[in-house]
This record gives sequence, C-alpha cells and structure tokens, in this order.
Amino acid sequence: MTSAVPVICVDGPSGAGKGTLSQHLASALSWHLLDSGALYRVVGYACRQANVALDDETAVAQMARALNVEFQPGEKGVTVWLSAQDVTAGIRSEAGGRDASRVAALPRVRAALLLRQQELARTPGLIADGRDMGTVVFPDAPLKIFLTASAEARAERRFHQLQGMGESVSLARLLDDIQERDARDEARAVSPLVPAEDAVVIDSTTLSADEVAQAVRELADGRNLLSDASE
Ligand code: DC
Repeated sequence: MTSAVPVICVDGPSGAGKGTLSQHLASALSWHLLDSGALYRVVGYACRQANVALDDETAVAQMARALNVEFQPGEKGVTVWLSAQDVTAGIRSEAGGRDASRVAALPRVRAALLLRQQELARTPGLIADGRDMGTVVFPDAPLKIFLTASAEARAERRFHQLQGMGESVSLARLLDDIQERDARDEARAVSPLVPAEDAVVIDSTTLSADEVAQAVRELADGRNLLSDASE
C-alpha cells in the first residue's frame, strides 16, 4: 500500500508549525504534499453550503465520499477548489477550523477520507500533514514527526497569521479555541491526536521554523530518505 513510496508524516496540534514545515519540506525535496486538515475543512465547508447538519454522520460521510476537491500549488501557496469554487479563504477561517474539528470526530467521515489520502503517496515521496498520519493513514512511514508547542505560543502564531489575512480576533479567544479544539481532537474515540509510538516528538515553542526544518531534514537524511536529486 504505502511501503514503496517514502512518506514523512507531520502530525501535531493546531498552530505547532506543521503547515510551514510541510510546505518547506515538500518544496525543498520536490515531494507531494497532503494537507489532510484542509480535507476535513472542505468537508465542513461543503456541508455548511448544502445545509447538511454537522452531526448527521451519514450525510456528512456521504459529502466526504462525493467531495470534488482539488489542491493547486502556486507561488502564493495552495489554492483549494471545491468543484469549480475557490474555497481557500473560506476554509481557513476560525469558523472553518471549528467545523472541521466537528466533522473530523465522526468515524464514518474519517473512513470515507482514508483511501483518498493513501492514494496521494506517489513517487518521489509524500509529506503528510495532519493528526493521524503516523498512527492511522501511513502506519508504515519511515519517518514520523510529532510537532508540538505550548498552547500560548500556538495561539500567538495563529493570531499573527489571522491578522495577516485581515481577520480580527482576540488572543484570549484564540487561546480558548485552541485549548477547546485540542481537547476535542485528543479525546475523540477514533484517531485521537496522539504521537505514534515510533514518532520523533519536536517541541517548537522556542525554535524558529528554519531550526525545525533543519532538524527534520537531518532526521530524513539519517534514514536515507533524501535522494541525491532532493538534497
Ligand atoms: O490542521 P487543521 O487545523 O487544518 O485541521 C483542522 C481540523 O481537522 C482539526 O481540528 C483537526 C482535524 N484533523 C483531523 O482530525 N485529522 C487530520 N488528519 C487533520 C485534521
């Protein structure tokens, strides 16, 4: 299933720097990128648009199965298309994150997205960003990173990110949201947010994005995952 193609899993809570690290690695190594959080965000968004209740597991799972989503990498990042609609900004809002966390707690929704995610493991390799990449989706991956940071540091990073997107939010509210979402992601019965047993845990609270990327590249190199072309 996944064994022939190398996969680097980047799991961890919201705001730990997974997206930045994953995009850096994918572009530095010229590997494919799976932003699994965006998939859950698109499912939540599609349900809202279609007036599907986010706790109607059968209907939400049906939306997840039928999802016509495309990720288009570009100079300013990845554009996310839902059918012919650009939903990039819509899914990245705080409300989009809350909706994603709710639909992600439904086992049949997770099952509906499993194969879609595994199919993205293609040569020369895949960087898989999420919560359960190392525990469920790619259990045989040769390198699993669990990237974490204090809730305060994560709230502050998110605060600056949202400010950059023109969304005004309070830092205290963000911290509450992050703690609430962590609790839901960690406590859910299916695929809870926990490091895989063989994951390398990196705490990015006091590390720069470059320092984190360098540490992961060294780990990948130590496991012979970097071909000559990608070094
Ligand atoms: O990484 P993100 O903030 O875009 O994720 C949005 C939500 O989706 C988050 O609350 C957790 C959930 N998620 C998940 O349950 N499993 C994944 N592999 C990725 C995200």
